[in-house]
Amino acid sequence: MNYSQILKKGENFLKKSKIKNPNLDTELILSKVINKKREEILLNTNKKLKIKDIIKFKYYLLRRYQKEPIAYILGYKYFWKFKFLTNKSVLIPRPDTELIIEETLKYLPVNKSKKILDIGTGSGCIVITLLKERPNCRGTAIDISLKALNVAKTNAKLHQIENKINFINIDIDKYKSNNYDLIVSNPPYINSIELNRLDDDIKFHEPMLALSGGSDGFRNLKKVIIKSKKLLKINGKLILEIGYKQKNECLKMLNENGFYINKISKDLSGKDRCIASTKIK
Ligand SMILES: C[S@@+](CC[C@H](N)C(=O)[O-])C[C@H]1O[C@@H](n2cnc3c(N)ncnc32)[C@H](O)[C@@H]1O
Repeated sequence: MNYSQILKKGENFLKKSKIKNPNLDTELILSKVINKKREEILLNTNKKLKIKDIIKFKYYLLRRYQKEPIAYILGYKYFWKFKFLTNKSVLIPRPDTELIIEETLKYLPVNKSKKILDIGTGSGCIVITLLKERPNCRGTAIDISLKALNVAKTNAKLHQIENKINFINIDIDKYKSNNYDLIVSNPPYINSIELNRLDDDIKFHEPMLALSGGSDGFRNLKKVIIKSKKLLKINGKLILEIGYKQKNECLKMLNENGFYINKISKDLSGKDRCIASTKIK
């Protein structure tokens, strides 16, 4: 079988399972199997595959057919300008979360040294990206999941900044170290009704611990806001990712806890997604 034939077969197979981008995912899987760039595959469509590669291809294709996200099958996902290793212990970094990076960088002047805390670091994509963009800053990354924290550590090594980040496996409720200039968090914020409505790719494969915000979706956002009041310096910044219907409740919680609202930003589909605030009391 040649590249062109296997791509066609793969695409048709994924279509049966209603995969959203069957063509792209098939190409990415073949690219992983034969360790060649997609462009190279498309320029050599008549090239024949080895039997062992056909077997591997079928194995990965079946995983995608069963709705496993492509980022877990490939083992990586690009976020901002960087590549992050991903596995089923971590939430796959989302394009919408790049908004947090864009907004947070505005509060981190180039060449200034700031102390940053990332609550619920997961793959580490937020804190690692911030430190790559602002090399004079230092970070702490906490997560309740030890497996997620290990992925974040591996990513920090991959980007050669493991010495700048302190990784701590702890529940935000128990974390006490304070005096941060800036706290950033994309906590799990999906409520139980919306959790049931998620695509199978997410619902059955990504870690529940990274998705579920309790029955109303606010359990972790509330914890992060209350804790940040204690952990931030006066005038310190809190940058939060929120669910698209959570703006009003979050603004209320922030006001009640002595935060001034700097900015509310919308994601790529025009939904409220990020709140930047300052601890003033
Ligand atoms: C939505 S994911 C965000 C991951 C990553 N920061 C990102 O933006 O892609 C939330 C993370 O918070 C962690 N988490 C959940 N509850 C926590 C808690 N009580 N304390 C600390 N981390 C928690 C989860 O394990 C998960 O890795």
